[in-house]
Amino acid sequence: MRYPEISKILVPEDELRRTVGRLAAAINLSYRDLEKELMVVGLLRGSFIFMADLVRQLEVPLVVDFMTLSSYGDGTVSSGDVKVVMDLDSSIENRDVLLVEDIVDTGRTFSKVVRMLQNRNPRSLKVCSLLSKPSARVVEVHIDFCGLEIANEFAVGYGLDYRQRFRNLPYIGVIDPP
Ligand code: IMP
Ligand code: MG
Repeated sequence: MRYPEISKILVPEDELRRTVGRLAAAINLSYRDLEKELMVVGLLRGSFIFMADLVRQLEVPLVVDFMTLSSYGDGTVSSGDVKVVMDLDSSIENRDVLLVEDIVDTGRTFSKVVRMLQNRNPRSLKVCSLLSKPSARVVEVHIDFCGLEIANEFAVGYGLDYRQRFRNLPYIGVIDPP
């Protein structure tokens, strides 16, 4: 193995492909009657690979924008302290917005960003997350499009990092943090 820290492969590449395809099909169906382009909002940096694969399978007219939040610092335990490091470029007022996240863990980040975006009065706001750890939830959140539920382990790869590493893995693996 190229990365001795990876203790197992959780989601291999073909399963990621199927999962993204399934999510895209559901999203395509749900936005059949758009008035304007869909605004796909990615949370950086974790969602960048997932979002790149997802938008290429969306068949509705869309624009993309990104937002960077800080929540974890460099570790593996959620602090619950979420700040906007880089805000969206464009206004979402009266727009149909799809928020794209890599993983919902405690739910703190998601609930805060959803509340923040709702306050900007979008026409609609739906959320999509590739992964979810239901057993780690501290704040209840509704995920409109959820890829896969995983156990309470630390997942890396396909955009997800541990201390900024492993984002480039084409699969999702598990590491045992020291
Ligand atoms: P939450 O606020 O606890 O839901 O944490 C959400 C954020 O923490 C995600 O956007 C990820 O960046 C990060 N995170 C949570 N769990 C993991 C994991 O297992 N691997 C990598 N990042 C994670
Ligand atoms: Mg993230």
